[in-house]
Amino acid sequence: MSIPRTALITGGSRGIGRAIALALSVHAQQIAIFYAGNQQAAEQTVSLLTLQGVQAMCLCCDVSDPVKVKEAVQQVRAAFGPIGILVNNAGINKDGLTLRMTPQDFDSVLQVNLAGAFHCIQACYRDMMQARWGRILNITSVAGLMGNPGQANYASAKAGLVGLTKTIARELATRGVTCNAIAPGFIDTDMTQTMDEKTLAAAMQQVPMGHMGKAEDIASAAAFLCSEAAGYITGAVLQVDGGMYM
Ligand code: NAI
Repeated sequence: MSIPRTALITGGSRGIGRAIALALSVHAQQIAIFYAGNQQAAEQTVSLLTLQGVQAMCLCCDVSDPVKVKEAVQQVRAAFGPIGILVNNAGINKDGLTLRMTPQDFDSVLQVNLAGAFHCIQACYRDMMQARWGRILNITSVAGLMGNPGQANYASAKAGLVGLTKTIARELATRGVTCNAIAPGFIDTDMTQTMDEKTLAAAMQQVPMGHMGKAEDIASAAAFLCSEAAGYITGAVLQVDGGMYM
């Protein structure tokens, strides 16, 4: 039997975040998810978690708003106790070639993908420091490692997450808290479903395995990095991308 722990997953209403929440039910007895707007999907994740014997809750919380994040984390803490595992998965994309990208579209993607992770880490930091145990996992992207035309905002945010991961890893290394990142390649979720057939075929040319990954491929890696067994891994960026970037 593992130690009772609370996990918080941002963007847990669907896709990769939902799969991670379900996979973490092995390591956490209480799981909270944050979502942006789709309450029905978030409640469905909660039901699935409950079926797995986990106490679960969902909160509508825009991670780009530091005040809302602080309040929502406090609500989780009040219900479930201190947060031991944090997965920063919430993300958006607003693609466009650089010449046509508006400053607003550049900024909003950074606010959600990068600043959002910072706000959540800040809100959970003391819990983990005091417990002298914690797992922080940031979901970045291969786009942040290799760049991608049309994603100046998204690739910048995801590259920033790598710097954030390594900084937090160093800050908390002596406190039993690890901070790592996963860089997914093309994963079959709502985010990639908007790609037309031609774009998808071109994308698959870049993937040695020749097919998209599943949300569960990311979730199993996430469950490992959040486990006891991964206690000596920190500051790492694990690519789960079918060999796309190597
Ligand atoms: P998705 O679009 O299916 O889900 C995104 C989740 O983030 C949703 O639960 C949504 O409610 C939440 N979210 C969005 N904005 C938010 C905000 N401001 N505050 C709180 N929650 C918010 O996306 P998917 O594919 O599951 O992606 C999850 C993560 O994986 C993202 O960070 C994405 O950038 C990353 N990723 C996805 C890849 C893919 O191919 N699907 C590839 C590489 C990285």
